[in-house]
Amino acid sequence: MKALVIGGSNGIGLAITRNLIDKGYEIEILDRHGPEEGVLPEGMFSHHCCDLLDLDEELIKSFAEDKNISLLMITAGFGRVADFEYFHTAEIKNMMTVNATATIQILRLFYDRIKSSDRFYCGVMGSISGLMSSPSAALYSASKAAICRLIESVNIELEVAGTENRILNVSPASFKGSRFYGGQNQLDLLNPLAEEIVEHMFAADTLFIPQYEETFKAVLERYHNDPHEYGLHSYQFKKESGRLDNNRRVKIGYLSGTFDLFHVGHLNLLRRAKAQCDYLIVGVHDSGAWKGKETFIPFEERKQIVGSCKYVDKVVQSCREDSDAWDLWHYDRLFVGSDYKGTERFNRYEEYFKDKGVEIVYFPYTQSTSSTQIRKTVMLKTKDIKLD
Ligand SMILES: NC(=O)c1ccc[n+]([C@@H]2O[C@H](COP(=O)([O-])OP(=O)(O)OC[C@H]3O[C@@H](n4cnc5c(N)ncnc54)[C@H](OP(=O)(O)O)[C@@H]3O)[C@@H](O)[C@H]2O)c1
Repeated sequence: MKALVIGGSNGIGLAITRNLIDKGYEIEILDRHGPEEGVLPEGMFSHHCCDLLDLDEELIKSFAEDKNISLLMITAGFGRVADFEYFHTAEIKNMMTVNATATIQILRLFYDRIKSSDRFYCGVMGSISGLMSSPSAALYSASKAAICRLIESVNIELEVAGTENRILNVSPASFKGSRFYGGQNQLDLLNPLAEEIVEHMFAADTLFIPQYEETFKAVLERYHNDPHEYGLHSYQFKKESGRLDNNRRVKIGYLSGTFDLFHVGHLNLLRRAKAQCDYLIVGVHDSGAWKGKETFIPFEERKQIVGSCKYVDKVVQSCREDSDAWDLWHYDRLFVGSDYKGTERFNRYEEYFKDKGVEIVYFPYTQSTSSTQIRKTVMLKTKDIKLD
């Protein structure tokens, strides 16, 4: 028996993984990092690197095609309590992608298994805030509302299609023992909730709200009776709870370059930079002339090429100095090829950024052999044309 737990390295995903191992399952964990060493029994799980911000559909498909896997639990997700004005557009994109879009895509990639007449168990962590308004967590609430509505609707389609399989929407209020609010994993606090979730999944239930009868039945009734009054109360409650985190969370990255004859070395540089920030701004030099060499491709075209790369969030005309670009974009990380380390210019930047909280990240940067060859050929051809 095998199960796939997406987000299984921490928090409730880790507790569910542990619970399923105790029930005899072998677990495939998909998460950004593996679980802490020693927390799960060796040989009973494998970790595969997976970032839902850059969903590897082929990887998910390969698990969906594995008939030994009969259970899928998606717990990966994040959020924070903050007023809407404190969210950068990059954080909006990331939260909606992880909590809603990628989660929905995974369900779709598994849909043949879920819709099949063979038993398949499936669950997703929603949130109580996906079932009602949540001032000061508006974005998180929107991302969870998307998944709650999707599951509610798809479960009807599954019923009509005649399968007994259902997707379980687990929608708790805030719980303790996970890393969601920046704490440590505490399995002893999470185990009872994990056991309840697994039981509801095996029962093919469609919705599980922990502590429903004791607490949340009345809370939801109050919300439905007067959403406005409930919203104002909820806003005040969050303000007083001390959970408000009105800080900027996203890391903005910046790098500049000429990007002439765009090649795989450029692509690798952009990919590595994006992996280390949430929002990547790329400054393209308007002309190679000021750096002592002419470009083959005109500035506007180079800008379009760079801007169409999926790792780039914003493309701008570079400034003469990257430190001038900081005045415009207030980036947190400046990416540069490692051969610039120790140069007069970058020593100057190190000094300039010392008290600004900017980290300079040096990358090994290599042009591919093919791109060097292309450059040489283009140079020769250009020369020929000029000679003609
Ligand atoms: N804790 C609560 O009070 C609460 C209440 C209601 C609902 N929920 C929901 O329950 C789920 C689990 O939360 P938790 O409390 O167990 O939090 P957690 O301890 O932070 O665990 C979440 C896991 O998701 C992973 N994850 C985050 N972003 C990811 C990405 N882009 N790609 C792949 N994995 C990613 C995290 O990896 P990293 O550590 O590398 O980021 C982490 O392993 C979430 O969907 C959350 O919204 C939590």
